[in-house]
Amino acid sequence: MFFSRLAVLCTLPFLALGAKKRAVSSNFALYAYSEGFGGIPLFYADGYAYIGEVNQSNSSDAATVAFSLGSDDVWVGNPNTTLLTNATAPSWSNVTFYVPDDTTPDKRIGFLSSDESTDGAIETGFSFYGSTAVLIGETGALESNFFSLQISDRVHRLYWNDTSLGQVPIILRSVAPSNPPN
Ligand SMILES: *[C@@H]1O[C@H](CO)[C@@H](O)[C@H](O)[C@H]1NC(C)=O
Ligand SMILES: *[C@@H]1O[C@H](CO)[C@@H](O)[C@H](O)[C@H]1NC(C)=O
Ligand SMILES: *[C@@H]1O[C@H](CO)[C@@H](O)[C@H](O)[C@H]1NC(C)=O
Ligand SMILES: *[C@@H]1O[C@H](CO)[C@@H](O)[C@H](O)[C@H]1NC(C)=O
Ligand SMILES: *[C@@H]1O[C@H](CO)[C@@H](O)[C@H](O)[C@H]1NC(C)=O
Ligand SMILES: *[C@@H]1O[C@H](CO)[C@@H](O)[C@H](O)[C@H]1NC(C)=O
Repeated sequence: MFFSRLAVLCTLPFLALGAKKRAVSSNFALYAYSEGFGGIPLFYADGYAYIGEVNQSNSSDAATVAFSLGSDDVWVGNPNTTLLTNATAPSWSNVTFYVPDDTTPDKRIGFLSSDESTDGAIETGFSFYGSTAVLIGETGALESNFFSLQISDRVHRLYWNDTSLGQVPIILRSVAPSNPPN
């Protein structure tokens, strides 16, 4: 169901966005949905974006991400401290969400701190269609090219527009599942 809707979504012109853009508040979390996932949270670990159970990450700095809106449709991430299972606070804050552009060979989705930059990182133009996360492309088209790859038990890494390793398509939404996922 999500995927037939997604195909339509990707072809919608920019103007279609206006009416629905403010459905999401300025502070939000992201949850992954697909045929396999009923809404699992997005977390940060070592500069990259993952979905799954943060306590299964091998990074001591991992935490689910509390997003807020920056200027130019930038999404700023901070650790969601209400979910931390570990007393040690993560060392990262105010990181900027990015996806790689077409010219970038590394298709992982990640976060940059204010003193970092990386070639080909798209950091502006993120928005929502309803509660579904999209990137507004250069032509104004809404793009949702999120994919995930399982890397360990209950941890999946996020990629943009890449199926070369067997990644599966997902949708990111700002809405938590009504029942906790298994
Ligand atoms: C990890 O988190 C999940 C979901 O919050 C929870 O069900 C599970 O018990 C946790 N596992 C450990 C080892 O803390
Ligand atoms: C964590 O796990 C990933 C994937 O299994 C691996 O690539 C990475 O090197 C590991 N990191 C650490 C710090 O062990
Ligand atoms: C908790 O923090 C300690 C110290 O930073 C770290 O060694 C450990 O791996 C962390 N545990 C979890 C589950 O994140
Ligand atoms: C932080 O996590 C809690 C518990 O899951 C959730 O209710 C809350 O919406 C999250 N806050 C943000 C800003 O993501
Ligand atoms: C994060 O950004 C906010 C808003 O710009 C600012 O008030 C806060 O001091 C920043 N925090 C850190 C740790 O840089
Ligand atoms: C997706 O990647 C392919 C190359 O693998 C590229 O031709 C295409 O333009 C990309 N699409 C988007 C929307 O970035």
